[in-house]
Amino acid sequence: MEPKVIKRIGVLTSGGDSPGMNAAIRAAVRTGFYYNIEMFGIYRGYEGMIHNEIKKLDSKNIAHVLERGGTFLKSARSEEFRTPEGRQKAYENLRSHGIDALVVIGGDGSLTGAHLFYKEFGIPAVGLPGTIDNDLSGTDSTIGFDTACNTAIQAIDKIRDTATSHDRLFFVEVMGRDAGFIAINAGIGSAAAAILIPEKKMPVEELVEKLKVRTKAKKTSNIVIVAEGGKSGGAAEIASKVKKYLPYYDIKVTILGHLQRGGAPSSFDRLLASKLGVAAVEGLLHGKYDVMAGLINHKVVYTPIKKAIVDDKTVDEDDFRVAKILST
Ligand code: F6P
Repeated sequence: MEPKVIKRIGVLTSGGDSPGMNAAIRAAVRTGFYYNIEMFGIYRGYEGMIHNEIKKLDSKNIAHVLERGGTFLKSARSEEFRTPEGRQKAYENLRSHGIDALVVIGGDGSLTGAHLFYKEFGIPAVGLPGTIDNDLSGTDSTIGFDTACNTAIQAIDKIRDTATSHDRLFFVEVMGRDAGFIAINAGIGSAAAAILIPEKKMPVEELVEKLKVRTKAKKTSNIVIVAEGGKSGGAAEIASKVKKYLPYYDIKVTILGHLQRGGAPSSFDRLLASKLGVAAVEGLLHGKYDVMAGLINHKVVYTPIKKAIVDDKTVDEDDFRVAKILST
C-alpha cells in the first residue's frame, strides 16, 4: 500500500499490562522523534481514547521508563470501545488532535480493537504483542512473557526450599489465561514433577501415578505446576482431587497471580520491546497497516492482525516431551 503522510502518531497500551510495555512505548516515541513525528500518549487504552485522555509527549515523559514494569500510559479493558458509538467518539477525539496513526500495545483484545478501528475509520495501526501470555501468532515471544516466566521460576524456587524442608507436595498455579506457555516454561525451568496445561489433558489418575513413582524414588519435594484456565480446574481443585488418592501427603497450594505481571522487564523483554517499538513506527511510515510487528528468529516480521490474533499458537509438543523426560 502507498504510505500515507503521517505527522502525528498516538501510542496506547491496553488490556492486561506486561513488563516491557514501558520500554516499547519509549522505543516507539523515540523513533517518532527521530523521524520528526509528533507523538501522543493515549492514557488508559481505548477507554482514554473515548474520554479524550490524550496528551502530547516530550522526551521527559519517556525518561527512565525503560527499566520500569507496568505502563506509565496506564491500561484498561474498555467495554464502550466494543460499541460503534464508543468507537465513533474515540475517532472524533483522535481527529481533534490530528492523530493520523496508532501504535497499539496489548494482547489479542487490544489488537482486535486496532483492526476494527482500521476497518471502520481507516486509521493506520501497527500492533505490538504486549501480554505475559505469549498467545499471539506472528512472534516467537510476546513482550513480558520472558519476565513473567522468570518471576514465576524465582517464586517456585522459593517454594521448593520450604517444600523440601517439610517433604511437601505443592500445587502452584500460574497465569496464562487459556494458554499454557508460562506453565510449560516455568515448569521445565523449575524441575516441576508435573505440568498441567489447558492444551493437554492429564487425567488425575495419571498425575497420581506419576507422584507415586516419584515418592518411591525418594524425591523429597514435589511441585506440580497448574496453568490457570485448564478444563480440570485450578490448582486448588486439582489438589483436593489428588488428596483423595494420596491422603498421607501434606499438600499446599500457591497461586502466583498478578505478581507475574509486575517487576522490571528482563534483558530479553527490554530488547524485544525496543526492537518492536522501532519497528512499529517504521512500519507505519512504510505503509504497513493493520499488522502486528513481531520477532521471529530474531527478525522483525509484520503479520496481519487478523492472523496474529487467531488462536493457533500452541505449546510446542517437544517442550512437553522434554518436560516429561525430565520429570520421570
Ligand atoms: O492476559 C494477561 C492476564 O494476566 C492473564 O494471564 C490472566 O488470565 C488475566 O490477564 C487476568 O486479568 P485481570 O488482571 O483483568 O484480572
